[in-house]
Amino acid sequence: MFRWLRDHGVIERNLILMGVLTLITVSIGGLVQIVPLFAVETTIERVSGVRPYTPLEQAGRDIYVREGCYLCHSQMIRPFRDELERYGHYSLAAESMYDHPFQWGSKRTGPDLARVGGRYSDDWHAAHLRSPRALVPASVMPPYAFLDRPLDYADIQDRLRALRMVGVPYTDEMIANARADLEAQARPDADGSAFQGRYARARQGAFDGDPARITEMDALVAYLQMLGTLVDFRDVTPAQLRQP
Ligand code: HEC
Repeated sequence: MFRWLRDHGVIERNLILMGVLTLITVSIGGLVQIVPLFAVETTIERVSGVRPYTPLEQAGRDIYVREGCYLCHSQMIRPFRDELERYGHYSLAAESMYDHPFQWGSKRTGPDLARVGGRYSDDWHAAHLRSPRALVPASVMPPYAFLDRPLDYADIQDRLRALRMVGVPYTDEMIANARADLEAQARPDADGSAFQGRYARARQGAFDGDPARITEMDALVAYLQMLGTLVDFRDVTPAQLRQP
């Protein structure tokens, strides 16, 4: 009755046969996972609220990448109980669909930043970036006080254009107004109605505490304050999450 168990030894003693059978088994496993993906239109569930980053946020994101913040911070909350309780709703694929390059990461010397937006005040972020140990005495995060220098955004339109080439839906209007939008967001007293019309849920502010100058600190804090705030999870139903 258990003859096949004995015959199994034949496979184990024949390297080539074992190799061929292993290949067949692994291929079936691979096909089962890969083939259904050709049938679905997209693997990213559509979620309302996700929009391209504002020019100021994008400039901040470029500084985040330039400074290597990702070496210590991830931006992906995994669907585990401990992470949900600490950081909030697990990250959705849609939330990083306009990230080029994505910042998911797996190295967490510091906490995950996927939902850090709105958790602290602008002043807290600016003070923390200037001197992390002034606020968190045991912090090993390096100080970034030099970010208080003027932001160079001469090429902001080109940056948006480049992102459009890789699929971020910036409109001609957004690109034409990129400089004006960047300046409007960094000045809390500026008329931002046109800017607000182009970018939903974007907040204007003196992110570094000084409305007179536009600094790298402004851009980085604007970016951090947006992280994880685009999707309003009261709008997201479980059915929406399942829908392809
Ligand atoms: C050497 C590792 C390291 C680097 C590089 C680093 N950080 Fe941190 N970061 C930490 C650690 C550790 C903490 C936790 C202690 C603290 O709050 O300072 C932290 C905390 C933070 C927090 C507060 C998060 C929270 O939920 O309390 C923010 C925001 C932050 N970092 C942003 C940045 C940004 C932006 C950069 C890049 C300009 C950066 N970090 C670079 C290690 C790092």
